[in-house]
Amino acid sequence: MTAAIQRRLEIPEPHSAEKTELHPELNRAHVRFIGLGKTYNGRQGPIAALQGIDLAIQRGEVFGIIGRSGAGKSSLIRTINRLEQPTSGRVLIDQVDIGEFDEDRLVALRRRIGMIFQHFNLMSAKTVWQNVELPLKVAGVPKEQRENKVRELLELVGLQEKHKAYPAQLSGGQKQRVGIARALVHDPDILLCDEATSALDPETTQSILGLLREINQRLGLTIVLITHEMAVIREICDRVVVLEHGRVVEQGPVWEVFGNPQHEVSQTLLAPLQHALPEELQSRLHTQAPSSAAAVVLRLQFTGSASDEPDLAALFAALGGQVKLLQGGVERIQGHALGQLLLAVSGSSLSAEQLHERAAPWAQRVEVLGYVV
Ligand SMILES: Nc1ncnc2c1ncn2[C@@H]1O[C@H](COP(=O)(O)OP(=O)(O)OP(=O)(O)O)[C@@H](O)[C@H]1O
Ligand SMILES: [Mg+2]
Repeated sequence: MTAAIQRRLEIPEPHSAEKTELHPELNRAHVRFIGLGKTYNGRQGPIAALQGIDLAIQRGEVFGIIGRSGAGKSSLIRTINRLEQPTSGRVLIDQVDIGEFDEDRLVALRRRIGMIFQHFNLMSAKTVWQNVELPLKVAGVPKEQRENKVRELLELVGLQEKHKAYPAQLSGGQKQRVGIARALVHDPDILLCDEATSALDPETTQSILGLLREINQRLGLTIVLITHEMAVIREICDRVVVLEHGRVVEQGPVWEVFGNPQHEVSQTLLAPLQHALPEELQSRLHTQAPSSAAAVVLRLQFTGSASDEPDLAALFAALGGQVKLLQGGVERIQGHALGQLLLAVSGSSLSAEQLHERAAPWAQRVEVLGYVV
């Protein structure tokens, strides 16, 4: 590594042992943001869209960006291909600071980075074939090579039959497939997706996510993905970052953030995925035992930190008495069990506190919610 590049890396001093361990990872990062800031000149004055962003995206991972509208997600993703010029801080790609790139190097950089959009951005007067071929033509790629590439990509996205169709004759999912093929013409190693499935119905979203996963695994592409659909993150992302007012408020492996969101924004965004207490049950719930026959309601949460699903027979035996399942479900994200069980325990010789204690080894979090008759 040259001294110049080394100097540009300038990794901040570690503050803790944990950060020291992170260093090799940072050095291998595919994309790195260091103290990144972006301020727009809005009509009513400056708008700080990004502030002090420090993030590392590893090669080959699917990295999700979530946050409320206006949090700075698009601004952040667009600094990766310099569609957006940062106001402060740096973006490194493979350890190289792209802030210093001249026009020629920017053109080369943008070819290494494909991008797909919510509204596909296809040329309506051009066929599927022509849409995919266009960036190759612009780059001056010879005809035969172009044809081979377009054929190969249309096959990858499953649109061989549609090559003569115009965008207006395609479904949303098919249009996005054209968008994906077009984004891959220069064999990029990063694919940026800004709300790429937001205009699609759930079934089509699934098929596009399947295609993105295939591209990630088969071609080894790093994918950076913005979405408002938390299920999309759960489905294909390895790690996720939560932005709020242009700052990182939480980040981590998807199972960890989804299993145990720490920040209020993450909790709000992920709330639709959580099972709320059924209203009917809530209304029947007493804080004090109304009678000795009342059942204790326990909530067991599986936040993914243990990899085992709950062994129900063993759990029920530990609790004693009669155990009814009121609500629950456990799903797996990245091999971790996440979910919750709502149980009503009656006829046990144990007090609520003792039941809490007995249930503790079976879940990452146990709560006594109250009593029902
Ligand atoms: N070109 C611009 N000029 C002025 N302000 C801008 C510009 N682009 C974005 N902004 C502002 O910067 C902030 C972040 O915008 P950005 O588009 O990055 O948010 P986002 O998280 O992508 O939102 P959404 O989920 O709605 O797409 C917002 O306050 C927005 O109004
Ligand atoms: Mg946006």
